[in-house]
Amino acid sequence: MGVIVCVGGQWGDEGKGKVVDLLAEQARIVLRSQGGNNAGHTVVVDGVTFKFNLIPSGILHPETICVIGNGVVLDPKVLLSEVAALEAAGADLRNLVISERAHMIMPYHPTLDRLEESARGDDRLGTTFRGVGPAYSDKVRRIGFRVGDLQKLRFLEKKLDFVLPLKNDILVKLYGAVPFTKEEILSEYTEYADRLDRFIRDPFPIVQDAVAQGSRVILEGAQGTMLDLDLGTYPYVTSSYPSSGGALAGAGIGPRHVTTTLGVFKAYTTRVGYGPLPTELEGSLGEYLRERGSEYGTTTGRSRRVGWFDAPVARYAVGVNGIDSIALTKLDVLDELEELRICIGYRSKGEIQDHPMANISHLKHLEPVYEELPGWQGSTRDARHFEDLPEEARAYVERIEELAGARVDLISVGPGRDQTILRRQEW
Ligand code: GDP
Ligand code: IMO
Ligand code: MG
Repeated sequence: MGVIVCVGGQWGDEGKGKVVDLLAEQARIVLRSQGGNNAGHTVVVDGVTFKFNLIPSGILHPETICVIGNGVVLDPKVLLSEVAALEAAGADLRNLVISERAHMIMPYHPTLDRLEESARGDDRLGTTFRGVGPAYSDKVRRIGFRVGDLQKLRFLEKKLDFVLPLKNDILVKLYGAVPFTKEEILSEYTEYADRLDRFIRDPFPIVQDAVAQGSRVILEGAQGTMLDLDLGTYPYVTSSYPSSGGALAGAGIGPRHVTTTLGVFKAYTTRVGYGPLPTELEGSLGEYLRERGSEYGTTTGRSRRVGWFDAPVARYAVGVNGIDSIALTKLDVLDELEELRICIGYRSKGEIQDHPMANISHLKHLEPVYEELPGWQGSTRDARHFEDLPEEARAYVERIEELAGARVDLISVGPGRDQTILRRQEW
């Protein structure tokens, strides 16, 4: 048992929600450790689709404790609508715990996100407009509001007296926008305080107890390694740390308790928003994969850019996260292709690079070097054992293992729980 750190190995939307839900069956705790409602995780159970932005994907297992950890930025309005939808669907939320230390998205954060994006003009990032960047910036500046502040409304009001003028100054003087009033924010957040009170607790004893007993704890990743603030394609990244180091910091768990670092990778590549995507497919093949893979964002509905599997990215993600096990998802999306490609390096100014470079302009202008593999042109959706896969599909998976440098222990061949090949019995 022990702690499984589950991280996205690419640019997000790798299928972390499906994988976490599946492994959560044996988990005492599933903990979301960073990011906000920029994330969208889809779980399909018995043909019913659930979409989570903030609530951990373990919530459909009634015995599992689901924690929103200290590293998360949380929009109370979005969380409450997720709670309402889940309760209407009959889910039991007694086991939902929200850390007092998690930060809150305040009403001015999404407004500033939108204004800052539009001020960037051609250099915009393509954020989700959920206020995630501005909220993390305030956390770092130590002018953020934490969930625990909802239980000390006098303190929250005093802090607003200091912070709100700073925000309104920018809104009014820089952007000519409408300022927020303290009264409207206070009345809105007082209502949230009432409605969220039943979930707000210090997760420290719960998490430490589970860790000490060696129970299964899953840290549910959000976003992906290439969107990591430090390790990703800066500035085209999110404002948090989706990599394994960030997951531990956002959960309050030390590295010695981790038994598996599970990297979730799609069998090809997608990205939402702007920034480099070296293996991008822009023609009809890209369009085909987007449709077949339903590559439209869970959170914003934007179409996802698609590309071939990028092995230098995978090897980089394996290295920086310490990934020792891979979950490879959406293999079925490639079922009909006659021929497949895997990027094995980048050519830049006559030289071959084998990993993503820090310099963004470099990444933008390089030319991927591909290896071609035959397709299998048959359905993998009913495969439940590795041996059930067509030979070419097995060769594709084995080549990814080899290039990425970690074992593929889980293969997903459809959105449902059962559409999974487990190559490892003990997790
Ligand atoms: P996350 O953000 O990493 O949790 O991923 P998303 O939920 O945003 O996107 C993954 C999408 O692919 C969801 O709609 C899943 O239901 C779906 N999905 C997951 N695994 C598979 C798979 O193996 N095959 C297919 N066809 N769809 C999958
Ligand atoms: P999950 O958890 C895919 C992207 C946005 C944008 C960039 C910055 O579902 O994998 P932000 O709003 O975070 O400031 O936007 O990050 N992004 C994601 N892309 N999946 C996600 O989450 C993402 N969360 C943020 O599209 O390019
Ligand atoms: Mg997603």
